[in-house]
Amino acid sequence: MRRITQQALSLLGSISLALSAHGIAQAAQDSVKVGMMLPYSGTYADLGNNIDQGFQLYIDEQGGTLDGVKIEYVRLDDESNPSKGPENANRLVNRDKVDVMVGTVHSGVAMAMAKVANDTDTLLIIPNAGAMAITGPLCSNNIFRSSFSNWQPGYAMGKVAADKFGHKTAVTVTWKYAAGDESVQGFTEGFEEGGGKVVRNLTVPFPDVEFQALLTEIASLKPDAVYTFFAGGGAVKFVLDYAAAGLKDNISLYGAGFITDGTLQAQGKAAEGLYTTLHYADDLDLAKDKSFREAYEKKFNRAPDVYSVQGYDAAQMLHAGLKEAKGDFSNRDAVVKGMSSATYDSPRGKLTLSPSHNPVHDLYLRKVENGINAYQGVAVAQLGDPARGCRLK
Ligand code: BEZ
Repeated sequence: MRRITQQALSLLGSISLALSAHGIAQAAQDSVKVGMMLPYSGTYADLGNNIDQGFQLYIDEQGGTLDGVKIEYVRLDDESNPSKGPENANRLVNRDKVDVMVGTVHSGVAMAMAKVANDTDTLLIIPNAGAMAITGPLCSNNIFRSSFSNWQPGYAMGKVAADKFGHKTAVTVTWKYAAGDESVQGFTEGFEEGGGKVVRNLTVPFPDVEFQALLTEIASLKPDAVYTFFAGGGAVKFVLDYAAAGLKDNISLYGAGFITDGTLQAQGKAAEGLYTTLHYADDLDLAKDKSFREAYEKKFNRAPDVYSVQGYDAAQMLHAGLKEAKGDFSNRDAVVKGMSSATYDSPRGKLTLSPSHNPVHDLYLRKVENGINAYQGVAVAQLGDPARGCRLK
């Protein structure tokens, strides 16, 4: 009897060894709970919804599972409110027990999520917020970004404004928080490298949209160009007000592409002719983008934008991690390795991640033509983020 028991035990051992050798994790969980922490209300509501839809599209294309692991969702509206960020992120991790957080849009809220992710060793994928600190001094093994750093589109626009359009002076206008400040920092670096000079930085608090005083000041300063960072509802209002103030035909208006992405229907003629830089355009000649746009429009009955792409790529990143881990989400080293080393076939074009886990991608020059952000060429090829202060190797 004893001998039979020993034989049975040893047989069980061999089976489990064989399973491991084939990469089938013995205790692998069969589902992963994704905590979507996004703005579903307020000035960034459309951005949050589009990220969510992009993410869903990719998961649905895979049949709802990634490498055999079912994807479940918990959703939380962060209202783009940084003061509620720590509590909201802690709720997802500690109460809802999510395995991975996906979020968010607003840099200030994302900073709180990054802190909670690091304190609780939770995987975090950021599908928009560009706060430089997150892939700078706060960079970490378990934090990834599928979007951009705030510096990247700003830098590209500064280069183009100086080198291609030959402007010498510029005024910047933005919301006073990390995203605006860092976008302006990128623009200033690119513009001043090309011999331009930023003569005044103007700001309003987030999410205010009272622009009249700033527009009056721009009119009296008479710079060659104006650079803006606004997004969502604020971007719509700024472009309409700029045109209504009679400035559009006199002082060239540029921006990080968020000023015209997902906003063109509401901006109408006021946006026609505006040049911006971003890692996406509405008419890229890429097979992946064509199939993505077709599938997105079929599923959601409207066109995707840059936020939809970033959501889609966030899901691709989770998939790359699960592939490397052969479906065993608990094998964090393999998940991180898969996510950081993949080359992604993004609707934006080829996408890889820098050592700080920030996208390295082409920055495009776009022009609003007939209601779309039309591709004009590559402004800066395969641009990374300086990732100043990141010690990750
Ligand atoms: C940010 O807060 O980082 C951000 C928000 C909207 C668009 C782009 C960046």
